[in-house]
Amino acid sequence: MSEQSNIQKLIELKTQSRLGGGQARIDAQHKKGRLTARERLDLLLDKGSFREVDAFVVHRTTDFGLDEQKFMSDSVVTGWGTIDSRLVYVYSQDFTVFGGSLGEVHAEKICKIMDMAMKSGAPIIGLNDSGGARIQEGVVSLAGYADIFLRNTLASGVIPQISAIMGPCAGGAVYSPALTDFIFMVRDTSYMFVTGPDVVKAVTHEEVTQEELGGASVHSEKSGVCHLAADSEADTLYLIRKLLSYLPQNNMEDAPFVQGDDPLRMEEGLNNIIPDDANKPYDIKDVIRMIMDGGQFYEIHENYAMNVVVGFARLGGHSIGIVANQPAVLAGVLDIDASEKAARFVRFCDSFNIPIITFEDVPGFLPGTFQEHHGIIRSGAKLLYAYCEATVPKLTVITRKAYGGAYCVMSSKHIRSDVNFAWPTAEIAVMGPDGAVNIIFRKELEAAEDPVQKKAELVADYKEKFANPYVAAQRGYIDDVIEPKETRPRLINALEMLTNKRDASPAKKHGNIPL
Ligand code: HXC
Repeated sequence: MSEQSNIQKLIELKTQSRLGGGQARIDAQHKKGRLTARERLDLLLDKGSFREVDAFVVHRTTDFGLDEQKFMSDSVVTGWGTIDSRLVYVYSQDFTVFGGSLGEVHAEKICKIMDMAMKSGAPIIGLNDSGGARIQEGVVSLAGYADIFLRNTLASGVIPQISAIMGPCAGGAVYSPALTDFIFMVRDTSYMFVTGPDVVKAVTHEEVTQEELGGASVHSEKSGVCHLAADSEADTLYLIRKLLSYLPQNNMEDAPFVQGDDPLRMEEGLNNIIPDDANKPYDIKDVIRMIMDGGQFYEIHENYAMNVVVGFARLGGHSIGIVANQPAVLAGVLDIDASEKAARFVRFCDSFNIPIITFEDVPGFLPGTFQEHHGIIRSGAKLLYAYCEATVPKLTVITRKAYGGAYCVMSSKHIRSDVNFAWPTAEIAVMGPDGAVNIIFRKELEAAEDPVQKKAELVADYKEKFANPYVAAQRGYIDDVIEPKETRPRLINALEMLTNKRDASPAKKHGNIPL
């Protein structure tokens, strides 16, 4: 073969490989409103940066006539590229080849790229669009999944792992995304479930659509499995790029520094943001945006357990994680879902050297049989454990209520928070004035001639004594009481003071977080 025809053959093979399952199946994919595996990578990565590996790989199966159907690259496209000029590893399942199903070589390709990501300390992003285990390959497919699950687990806390669900993701296949740090979903065209509508009907006689069972709305609002949902594939891929800008490449690095706006900026509006009536709501996201660089806040789990708010921002150019009670939803109470949402976020930040800033306005844990019977004790303990074990710089601002056990949990000094501020509106106590007076002055109230008047006096007295930040500040449980408007410069100053913070926990194999 001449040099010329050798090169011609290479070009032909690569062209064939790029066609996946062929033009008809590409057209069918487009008709469903979905992009192909390669089109997605083009949108995700910096232009022209994608380098594919294993484009010549074909499956080795001979059963069920599969030896007659071979597609180069098989059903997943793998390689590396850059996002904002930073290295990432990627795999993108190709639905046009056997419905993106996962067989032996599909799994081998993903494992190879995951191993490379681990060795070079760069994030891995998986774009999922698959009919699940390749039925014709039987147990070999299951083995392939298990090989991936092991790698997901070993990579956890070492490199950021991001999953996007771009089409079907069903059966045990859901467990690879579930083991990763963040799951993105596309509204109306993606779904995740362990068993599909047919099995559900056979077992429970429930009639349910794919969307109702495991669409993006369900997982971003009810189950919390999905961290971010977007309206289109392009938006989803854009959100992944944006998320990565807040993250380091691995657990040994810091997140990129991005010059922010004036670090000394005062926010006069914060001095009036807390309503006079302690039971009136305000939106903690307004507080967050007023304090952060450029008013930017990248929220995670925006529509799930909205009584707590978590997400990324920058302060003085440094990437930070925010956990905040949300007084505008359920008065910011901590319940099962909110505790688990916040706990997972705290652990992510701690794994990847991202300082945590906590904004606290919490009336306590949600009372009731539902919460108790479903394990608020265990879930609250998860959040407590996550804050206790975190050794990254931790800063806390108590804006209003810090009541009861929730005071201890929400990054108090006692559990290794580094710098804790309170606003003058802070109320740090075992419980709110009303409840406290009812309990400790029950006999006096029963005996009072005018119980209403008596209660008002006792509540006023209690407020004077306890519903303020100064009792805690006298004991050093609060490092300083600050004017709300100076929160931004004070937090930036504290963050910079903690740049070289070192802290450690006792040597152990691993702790036993109350799962
Ligand atoms: C082999 C598969 C496949 C699979 C789809 N295909 N799923 N081939 N193994 N799991 C093939 C189809 O035969 C078809 O081939 C092509 O992919 C496109 O599939 P369609 O059905 O035409 O597409 P669509 O109508 O969009 O339906 C998509 C789908 C459906 C809902 C995903 O294909 C489906 O239900 N597939 C089976 C899902 C499933 O039960 N998987 C096993 C789950 S158990 P042609 O040649 O016609 O184009 C599991 C265990 C994992 O995954 C355990 C891990 C621990």
